[in-house]
Amino acid sequence: MLEIWGRSTLKGHVQISGAKNSALAIMAGALLCPEDCRLRNVPSLMDVQRMAQILAALGLKMEQHGDVLDINGRDIQQSQAPYELVSQLRASFFAIGPLLARLGVARVPLPGGCAIGARPVDLHVRGLQAMGADVQIEHGMVHAYVSGSNPRLKGAKIYLDYPSVGATETLMMAATLADGETTIENAAQEPEVTDLANFCQAMGARIRGAGTNTIIIDGVKSLHSVEYSIIPDRIEAGTFLVAGAITHSELSLSPIIPDHLTAAIAKLRAIGAKVILESPTCVRVIGANSHVATDIETLPYPGFPTDMQAQFMALLTLSEGDSVITETVFENRLRHVAELNRMGADIRVKGNIAIVRGVPMLSGAPVVATDLRASAALVLAGLAANGKTTIEGLQHLDRGYDNLVGKLQNVGARLQRLKGDKEAESESASLNTANLGG
Ligand code: EPU
Repeated sequence: MLEIWGRSTLKGHVQISGAKNSALAIMAGALLCPEDCRLRNVPSLMDVQRMAQILAALGLKMEQHGDVLDINGRDIQQSQAPYELVSQLRASFFAIGPLLARLGVARVPLPGGCAIGARPVDLHVRGLQAMGADVQIEHGMVHAYVSGSNPRLKGAKIYLDYPSVGATETLMMAATLADGETTIENAAQEPEVTDLANFCQAMGARIRGAGTNTIIIDGVKSLHSVEYSIIPDRIEAGTFLVAGAITHSELSLSPIIPDHLTAAIAKLRAIGAKVILESPTCVRVIGANSHVATDIETLPYPGFPTDMQAQFMALLTLSEGDSVITETVFENRLRHVAELNRMGADIRVKGNIAIVRGVPMLSGAPVVATDLRASAALVLAGLAANGKTTIEGLQHLDRGYDNLVGKLQNVGARLQRLKGDKEAESESASLNTANLGG
């Protein structure tokens, strides 16, 4: 549980960690490589630890020192990912692409739905089938294999019905070792997809067009060892930008990649906060005395990210006027509304639309986090609210924010984990030193 006393002014500098969603995809990508992979700027997160456990269960060797993760995938001993682990981390399904490409067979449990939506994997499966894989789904397990004496996927033309981040990543990884050329049309353009493509290219993969809606991959026979640094987390950076605005404070953040924050910065400026790019890797936010309403619609990149919707909703609860927030990416990602309303916000929901009427003040209250970004939104609301807020469900926060509490404390926020949560703290601290095993 987290206890926050609101209304402190924040001041100082925040160090942004490596991107969670890049790290998870790139760790899956390490399955493609029969040699050493050294990853730098790996964030210290429960999700990263879980992905490491899944790779270890498949037989990869791993060692982590600080933000450096060494992975060796010479001997993949297993083609089957364990259900207990996959069910806790949806992103681990993305391992199906590289496993199939490398071994010609992969068995990965269906990840199931989660707090923000049903999240099917049909686009991943159809893409793999287009590349010549046989796919059977039985007893909750996806069993994919390539028949024949030379079990190699074949290049194909794939059109995605929706620019799914995960499906683009799965298929791009699978195509790196396929026979011939693969084209992914209507591909996701998120920076994490480009980061994964850059990582694969650094291992010798031949990929063009990542970051656009058409990605072309020329399959190669094998990949080689690599040392690669993960991009900064644009969602963590966006969360701290909102923290500066909602507390009417001044914060600087680095490292960042400004282009990755275009949509969030545009909305902050529309709301009335000042955002100044101080250098190509550093941004400063200065919250205004009062902010104004704005409308937000979540969209695939470069549109406004769904992963920032909850945090901006917290800010808009205190911005003068009516804001309309439309969530188009996930069907159940407005569960934080009820909790924000408990803190005095005035939000009504109709389907996937939330109408936020700005109120002068939020009041601290006990609330429950329902998912990762919802928990960040509640922290932000707690920082701005009068009095004390307690947030339950901190395991969501630990999944995806690297030391959020410590980083906020460093810039003057008054918040602390309550006793009983020490276990989670020491668990995530152990990430820094653990040999994650073979
Ligand atoms: N979808 C399908 N079929 C598929 C795949 C996706 O219908 O086969 C639907 C999903 O149900 C969803 C939409 O497409 O409604 C978008 O899903 P997408 O596949 O793009 O999302 P994802 O790859 O599962 C990643 C991030 C999410 C982020 C989304 C959208 C990772 C590990 N996760 O998920 O991050 O919200 O892209 O940008 O990369 C988070 O960090 O809090 C988080 C949820």
